[in-house]
Amino acid sequence: MAHAPAAAPIIAFQEVAKVYGDTAAVRGLNLTIATGEFYVLIGPSGCGKSTTLHMVNRLSEPSSGRILIDGADASTLNPVGLRREIGFVFQAVGLFPHLTVGENVAIAPRLLGWPPADIVTRVAELLEIVRLPPQAYLHRMPAELSGGQQQRVGLARALAARPRIMLMDEPFAALDPLTRDDLAADYRAIHDRLGLTTVLVTHDMTEAFLLADRITVMHSGEVVQTGSPQELLNAPADDFVRSLIDTPRRRAKRLAELMHVGAGT
Ligand SMILES: Nc1ncnc2c1ncn2[C@@H]1O[C@H](COP(=O)(O)OP(=O)(O)OP(=O)(O)O)[C@@H](O)[C@H]1O
Ligand SMILES: [Mg+2]
Repeated sequence: MAHAPAAAPIIAFQEVAKVYGDTAAVRGLNLTIATGEFYVLIGPSGCGKSTTLHMVNRLSEPSSGRILIDGADASTLNPVGLRREIGFVFQAVGLFPHLTVGENVAIAPRLLGWPPADIVTRVAELLEIVRLPPQAYLHRMPAELSGGQQQRVGLARALAARPRIMLMDEPFAALDPLTRDDLAADYRAIHDRLGLTTVLVTHDMTEAFLLADRITVMHSGEVVQTGSPQELLNAPADDFVRSLIDTPRRRAKRLAELMHVGAGT
């Protein structure tokens, strides 16, 4: 069964459009994201996924329509306060190269003026959460880490100020498949344990199926379909959604065949 969104969504898009000159990056966007949901936006390059994400924490403003956060119009909320509640992870990690791992993770708590002892405790706790033992990683420089480890630090940094909402823009895209699977599974567990609400952008339908409670498929700035992984698989709205689910379906079928062959001989 599909996850029904709770009565009061934590994030709601109401008829949102974003126009750049002659380009409609998104239009007629209506989304409701429930507290605790793991929500995935998927679609081809240029369909408006990043634009959608950036409007949630006011990195970009809608041209028309409204975005509600806990029922309040985001355009009336202080962007600084908003970004404190909302963690953001980019594809390019963007760690400060001249700061240690620990200092990178401590950025938000420092800006917020937390007592130093609390920051030390929080940084250690975060490095444990993302599975980079502090005794080994706290004092390393970003250049001394693999891409996957850097992305883990980026994740810890985004979680530092205890956000309730996490926005993630293709956070695992630059990683090799194994590292990517590992980190994605770890992140899903973190999402559940910390009771976060996550909106994650990806190109990868297999990743979407493995992670999401609900998925919105976008194309040319519009929503094509929203549903649980089961709903998309069992009732794709059109040929475009069908083409997106084709790859994971083919892979799963082929693997199942191989396992049957293996088991039968
Ligand atoms: N700052 C900007 N100025 C002008 N046009 C922009 C700007 N940002 C995005 N666009 C345009 O808006 C459309 C949607 O862009 P967006 O970055 O949201 O796509 P996307 O789905 O995230 O793509 P990708 O998968 O390649 O990251 C594109 O046509 C893009 O060229
Ligand atoms: Mg993008």
